[in-house]
Amino acid sequence: MANDQEKEAAARASLQFVKDGHVVGLGTGSTAAYFIRLLGEKVKNGMRVRGIPTSDRSRELAESLGIPLTTLDECQEIAVTVDGADEVDPQLRLIKGGGGAMLREKIVASATKQLVIVADATKQVPVLGKFPLPVEVIQFAQALVAKRITALGAKVSVRLNGDGTPYVTDERNHILDCRFGQIADADVLARQLSEMPGVVEHGLFIRMASVVLFARGSEIVELRR
Ligand code: A5P
Repeated sequence: MANDQEKEAAARASLQFVKDGHVVGLGTGSTAAYFIRLLGEKVKNGMRVRGIPTSDRSRELAESLGIPLTTLDECQEIAVTVDGADEVDPQLRLIKGGGGAMLREKIVASATKQLVIVADATKQVPVLGKFPLPVEVIQFAQALVAKRITALGAKVSVRLNGDGTPYVTDERNHILDCRFGQIADADVLARQLSEMPGVVEHGLFIRMASVVLFARGSEIVELRR
């Protein structure tokens, strides 16, 4: 599929940001998984890095490829993180969390010097919000938070697994997928959500991405903040 080729091309282009000796944040999602596999090849060929995964599944993938791992307990400064996104606007603000991992992704991003986002061209949007904004909530507060986000104008649904049970994140929380349509002011919404008791984290990543690599066919478009 064209999208998969673009995802792999963007992931390949991100390798230029990873240098020998780096501590590298390992994102989550299908595009980040391409990056982790490519990094695994580099490690096999002698590159020395230590990875900090942003989800249990990225950790399992990295382990299966023999990428040495570390943790935020051992190391709080990450040179570069390569991660995907669900939407990117012209100011390089992101919606993330389609894969349910935005809590650890944002924590790792916040400890990262250079956050490199890799994406196929469909992720580039003029205004954020077509993709439902994921909001991670503690289970106790789920209904209350859903009501408050609905009052902000979103259609809110609890993310479910295929069998109808609520999706549970790596940190044992639930996710509310919030359909705002176009988000008029992402900075204000990010603040409103962060201030809501019961919200653990939300998928708006503001002023975090340093570089976005979009693959459009065989061409790579690089945007910097
Ligand atoms: C994971 O929680 C997300 O933030 C992903 O980075 C995002 O959903 C992009 O995923 P894909 O690369 O699979 O499109």
